[in-house]
Amino acid sequence: MMENTSNEDGLLPPSVATDAVLVKSEAIAEGTPIVKGYDFNEGLDYHRLLQSYMTTGFQAQNFGKAVEEINRMISCKLSPVAKENRKEYNSHPTEREKTNCTIFLSYTSNLISAGVREIIRYLVQHNMVDCLVTSAGGVEEDFIKCMAPTYMGEFSLRGSELRDKGINRIGNLMVPNDNYCKFEDWVMPLLDTMLQEQNDKGTLWTPSRMIDRLGKEINHPDSVYYWAHKNNIPVFCPALTDGSLGDMLYFHSYRNPGLLLDIIQDIRAINSIAVQSSHTGMIIVGGGVIKHHTCNANLMRNGADFAVYLNTASEFDGSDSGASPDEAVSWGKIRKTATPVKICAEATLVFPLLVAETFVRRQQEFRDFRVAMETENSDTQENG
Ligand SMILES: NC(=O)c1ccc[n+]([C@@H]2O[C@H](COP(=O)([O-])OP(=O)(O)OC[C@H]3O[C@@H](n4cnc5c(N)ncnc54)[C@H](O)[C@@H]3O)[C@@H](O)[C@H]2O)c1
Repeated sequence: MMENTSNEDGLLPPSVATDAVLVKSEAIAEGTPIVKGYDFNEGLDYHRLLQSYMTTGFQAQNFGKAVEEINRMISCKLSPVAKENRKEYNSHPTEREKTNCTIFLSYTSNLISAGVREIIRYLVQHNMVDCLVTSAGGVEEDFIKCMAPTYMGEFSLRGSELRDKGINRIGNLMVPNDNYCKFEDWVMPLLDTMLQEQNDKGTLWTPSRMIDRLGKEINHPDSVYYWAHKNNIPVFCPALTDGSLGDMLYFHSYRNPGLLLDIIQDIRAINSIAVQSSHTGMIIVGGGVIKHHTCNANLMRNGADFAVYLNTASEFDGSDSGASPDEAVSWGKIRKTATPVKICAEATLVFPLLVAETFVRRQQEFRDFRVAMETENSDTQENG
């Protein structure tokens, strides 16, 4: 039976209710940030607006934390390294020179279909990241865009009508089927050449070697993989056959059979890059294979030192896409001492802002760092 807690005269509220509502607070720890958003009365300043996200709450705060985590990654990367640690990773044909922190950048295919391609291209062009991981569409769509454009459409466009017109839809983007025909005309003779080199010189092709070669052949400054080739940045794509490139390899296997693609050399290469790194940071945009492949490579070194996830996936279904950074800590994919951040958001909205607040603001530091590295290398060559 419920205790009678009302005051006898009935003029005051029941004490059970007042006790429940007016629980005394403990003092909040000193220095705890106060919630405060941006005041447009102070004028429009996008940098300050984005800085204010740190005290705005919810995913805005996670954005602020991710900016800090990426800036820590960059500071670690740009800090001086002892000469003996400056050797190339000896595990990959691109022979990239090591820095104090290897930054892995991973992204799903649709982000290359979308305008996030240009943000990724900027990072690769300016040699700001060290290792790329993507899925097949993330490779071919970059090359195809050098041949013909992808167009803006609507999510609501009818599939049956588009099919009659030979237009494919990716979300609210449209890709004419002809684009893939142009890609076929370009890539088939290159596959012939690769097969020839395999047979004549014993070249054993891997997905990363194939992407590097295609990046060289496209020879186009809009392309992510043109810059990856120029800057010796390896690109890993363990399921390179799950897209239009796979269709081409399938047709090629009838037209001119025999081309082999070895994924074992590539798993050894990406894992070795992680193992040989002084420190590592992971920026993973989207989920699925690209997320796990990057985290798994970092498991080989007992975890990444820095990590930022940006995706829309939730963890209640137990998916790897939705798995939180803390789940990765349990596997040793992120170090126990790290301060990883997950932003739950759609990447086209958030990734350009994240890059603007980190890499772009520090572009000069990257330039100075590269110049210093090149000067030191040429001095060493002259003296050695
Ligand atoms: N343009 C294309 O998308 C395209 C083209 C050809 C082939 N494919 C193939 O489809 C397969 C599946 O694609 P996938 O592995 O690249 O990823 P996906 O599209 O299956 O996405 C995996 C997860 O990443 C997250 N994600 C995706 N887009 C996001 C966004 N914009 N913002 C935040 N989070 C996002 C979501 O949680 C999603 O469940 C791959 O094998 C790929 O090669 C895709």
